[in-house]
Amino acid sequence: MAELKRINVGVIGTGWVGGIRANACAHNAIVDELHIAEIDPKRQAEIAAETNPTSITDDWRILIANEAIDVIVIAMTPETKRYPMVMAALEAGKNVFVEKPIAPTIEEAEAAYDLADAKALKISIGYSRRFDPRYVYVKKALNEGTIGDPVTCLVSRHSTRELGEKITGRSKMSPTSIGGVHDLDFVLWCLQPRKPIRVYSQTAGKLFSQTSDTPDHQWVMVTMDDGTTITVGVGWIMPIGYPNYVQAWIEVIGTDGALTIDDTHKEIQFNTAEHGIRYPLSSMPGEPVDHVFAGSMYDETSHFIEAVAYDKPAMVTRDEAILVMDVYNAADLSAERGEPVTLPRNDPTAG
Ligand SMILES: NC(=O)c1ccc[n+]([C@@H]2O[C@H](COP(=O)([O-])OP(=O)(O)OC[C@H]3O[C@@H](n4cnc5c(N)ncnc54)[C@H](O)[C@@H]3O)[C@@H](O)[C@H]2O)c1
Repeated sequence: MAELKRINVGVIGTGWVGGIRANACAHNAIVDELHIAEIDPKRQAEIAAETNPTSITDDWRILIANEAIDVIVIAMTPETKRYPMVMAALEAGKNVFVEKPIAPTIEEAEAAYDLADAKALKISIGYSRRFDPRYVYVKKALNEGTIGDPVTCLVSRHSTRELGEKITGRSKMSPTSIGGVHDLDFVLWCLQPRKPIRVYSQTAGKLFSQTSDTPDHQWVMVTMDDGTTITVGVGWIMPIGYPNYVQAWIEVIGTDGALTIDDTHKEIQFNTAEHGIRYPLSSMPGEPVDHVFAGSMYDETSHFIEAVAYDKPAMVTRDEAILVMDVYNAADLSAERGEPVTLPRNDPTAG
């Protein structure tokens, strides 16, 4: 029997999402050594107790300099500080898995892909919806043509305001570039090989705008080159129903059928005298429940580890990554200008 090829992984930033990634690595038989960089001493102690890493440090450069490490997972925040880590990891010959966004600009993302290509390294982005079977079912139905020719696709997503406050507090990014990006990636992936040709977006802000310049909600409407329309909306001001609660509603209407995905997490209601009704297991990245994980992030992490260990293609190609950035940049520009933006974009005045 062929010997199992094990690899060593370093995780930079083990907060909420990085903590899940680190645990996924610790539970993965392909991972030999797990190394962690985390600057918060309290979080360091927690994650060390959970994952029993080979090493733990507050300096990410130590992970990059460690020649034994094959894969670097980057999940630290703020997002705006990540790009130098991506480039340093690639420069040092590490395969990289990074939470979105991969880079602040398309030019920088292209440079990261160029470097990865030049060094024959894998790089991928955490677009976790691609590992949720319900979402993948949409792609399968479209590929197989069972709902006919797609006419329109809607994804409406709302998270609770404690999540919105956490996100708006750490970087100035639009709801689409930080949250809707998952849904844009998902729909564009499902509709391949169709390409977006026009983007229109509007934002609304009445709550967070009292204390910041971050909108509460953003709608994005995309027209594809075959006439299919996409509507993706994301907001982050819902009242608390469970820590980090997120609900999404998906409708895909085609010429021969319709597909509706109810991702509103109402399937488990937990009612206590103290808190009233809560919706467990409803956070976006998922969460551990004793010996199992409720959500797609473990599978997504394992997929990248297997891609590196067995030299298989990793999910999210260069073209897919750049296209999603193009669309959310166009959406932000459209919202700013109050008019549609056409793609591909050759407008030198565009940001
Ligand atoms: N795929 C999904 O479904 C999904 C869902 C939510 C968030 N995300 C993404 O995950 C990323 C992380 O979000 P989060 O909510 O876990 O953030 P978080 O703030 O909970 O965690 C970030 C961690 O990074 C640590 N850190 C900061 N600077 C560091 C440094 N220089 N070196 C090492 N550690 C450092 C912090 O101490 C903190 O523990 C975000 O970019 C977000 O976009 C993805």
